[in-house]
Amino acid sequence: MEQYIIKGGIPLVGEVEIGGAKNAALAIIAAAIMTDETVIIENLPDVRDINVLLEAMQEIGANVIRVDRHTARINGGKIGAHSVDYEFIKKIRASYYLLGALLGKYKEASVPLPGGCNIGSRPIDQHIKGFEALGATVKIEGGFINAKADYLHGAHIYLDMESVGATINIMMAASMADGNTVIENVAKEPHVVDVANFLNSMGANIKGAGTDVIRIKGVKKLHRTEYSIIPDQIEAGTFMFAAAATCGDVLVKNIIPKHMEGASAKLTEMGCIIEEYDDAIRVIGRKPLRPTRVKTAPYPGFPTDMQPQIAAALAIADGTSMVTESIFENRFKYVDELARMGANIKVEGNRAVVMGVEKYTGARVSAPDLRAGAALVIAGLAAEGITIVDDIHYVQRGYERFEEKMKGLGAKMERVDSEKELQLFKYREG
Ligand code: UD1
Repeated sequence: MEQYIIKGGIPLVGEVEIGGAKNAALAIIAAAIMTDETVIIENLPDVRDINVLLEAMQEIGANVIRVDRHTARINGGKIGAHSVDYEFIKKIRASYYLLGALLGKYKEASVPLPGGCNIGSRPIDQHIKGFEALGATVKIEGGFINAKADYLHGAHIYLDMESVGATINIMMAASMADGNTVIENVAKEPHVVDVANFLNSMGANIKGAGTDVIRIKGVKKLHRTEYSIIPDQIEAGTFMFAAAATCGDVLVKNIIPKHMEGASAKLTEMGCIIEEYDDAIRVIGRKPLRPTRVKTAPYPGFPTDMQPQIAAALAIADGTSMVTESIFENRFKYVDELARMGANIKVEGNRAVVMGVEKYTGARVSAPDLRAGAALVIAGLAAEGITIVDDIHYVQRGYERFEEKMKGLGAKMERVDSEKELQLFKYREG
């Protein structure tokens, strides 16, 4: 099993290039099969979740050509089955986007109930409510979600919570329904806007993405397009908090600074210097980091997907911070791992009281999920001594060439696959 091994204590310095947004890309590649014409998608991140979804799409007959590492050509003209029964798909949450895409195009879809990161119970009742409002019958049978409609019609849908997945899924299906759909209380995340822009570039008629209300005029057909995915806000934030935790100086490039406002504001409160450019942000860390309060919230609030990373930095701040998680109930599983590195964090319900310690010390830890794994890497980079992170397959779901990008910033970090490689690193760096 692959592991990361890190010799910490070196400030990250230099420039890092951010890739395409994983969570936008997952929805966009699923939506690409909604036309029979060929769609070209650029700035696609080369990460495990994306590759699994592309394979699942091929299983049902989509033609997928990886033109290069970050570009795919997708043709959904010969989709045979509307039922996705691909073993690995259960492991990725976003497999549910195939429901909206297939239901919209073929009025029929069958997809295994999604898995994904174990960060709490993750119901999909809002997706189902939306599909039903559009005229589909939805049943959960044998671990599958089966959705079917004679025809889809426009509807007025009010979401009980600002769910990213439900907003995107309903938006996809409604794009090819008869008539007008209004979805209220929708998610406003940058990737919701990106998916709407993508669908519009295929001929859909979606207005209001990025606001509380999305209005959709259904169209009969979608057509070819070429589309470049927005930069990954969470990957960018991860490097920003890594810069802060190591007291480094990092220029995070190829991003949309507006999407980073939550992270930038917190880093400023923590005493870092933030310089904003057109498509980059420079983070200069300053010791000691100052404590702060953070509460995760739907966009434009502080993203839940950056909660473990900021907590990893705050655990070595000079004072006590409060981290409140308001989206998922099980997102503090990294706390016990950080404790092994010397952190002093007490979890009370959905709040973590983070009592800053002077430093982390390297230890062997295990990634409990994707973003928590990234947080452990941040701690390892800041720690004194050597840290080994197990279960990095979680991290590889969402970070492309993570260790290479860190190494580009001067980190001593390797991805190893054997005891021999591990010992070699220790011998070289220890
Ligand atoms: C997406 C992201 C994930 C991120 C999350 C919140 C993808 C592939 N994943 O997940 O990385 O952490 O947004 O920004 O894009 N809920 C319901 N019923 C539903 C749907 C959601 O109760 O039908 C609840 C969830 O349990 C959660 C909240 O709504 O408490 C937000 O979830 P949602 O925005 O849907 O998250 P995902 O789309 O699963």
